[in-house]
Amino acid sequence: MQIAIDGPAGAGKSSVAREVGRRLGLKCLDTGAMYRAVTWKALKEGIDITNGKLLGQLVRDCNMETEYNDKKGTLIYLDGENVTEKIRSPRVNKNVSIVARSPELRRELVFLQRKLAEKSDGIVMEGRDIGTNVLINADYKFYLCASLEERAKRRWLEMEAKGVDVVFEDLIKEIAMRDRIDQEREESPLAIASEAQIIDTTSYTLEEVVEKVLEIVCTAKIKEHREDRIEIFHKEGR
Ligand code: DC
Repeated sequence: MQIAIDGPAGAGKSSVAREVGRRLGLKCLDTGAMYRAVTWKALKEGIDITNGKLLGQLVRDCNMETEYNDKKGTLIYLDGENVTEKIRSPRVNKNVSIVARSPELRRELVFLQRKLAEKSDGIVMEGRDIGTNVLINADYKFYLCASLEERAKRRWLEMEAKGVDVVFEDLIKEIAMRDRIDQEREESPLAIASEAQIIDTTSYTLEEVVEKVLEIVCTAKIKEHREDRIEIFHKEGR
């Protein structure tokens, strides 16, 4: 089973994907972590982050590995180094959408993402272009959204818990800017897949959103099962 979850920053994709994956026994992949890892490495090596060719080469030259952890979600390694925490810095936040605009880089990462999906028995993959591009034939597609203020509030609380000092108004501006870049880029921009179920998470708790997703998946599964049974009955001439 493949479940695609897309949406803007702070809509709750990672937490929902992790919890849905845990309850359905599926692996999870936070594809944003891959774009973040490239951003982190490019900034560290002083590479021009607007040069797509260099970014694509950077991915080909390094060994990017992801590991799924039930509690922590997607762990990410570059050449054996665990960079999971490092890619969440304010500097990476600020630059990642610019990096993610590059078609050359996206091609490399989408290739890795599809390979990971093929290798797994089932996956919940989340990002910006999963339902519209990476897993175009996903069994279920969701688009999570929330008001800008609510998304900024969630990010602010996350950062505060980690002891990172950020001004709320700056966070609002940064998220709005990232939304704009992600939605306006030419290569697979953030968009709602035509078959996606849209869930506005603004006034819901994590548990409520997870339940909504599971209800949709399970109802569809039961319907599928019922239709299969009816078909078998017809075939057997009963
Ligand atoms: O989900 P996130 O905030 O960690 O994602 C970081 C950035 O990566 C986001 O601003 C856009 C980019 N991204 C993307 O372009 N395509 C994806 N599938 C996932 C993330």
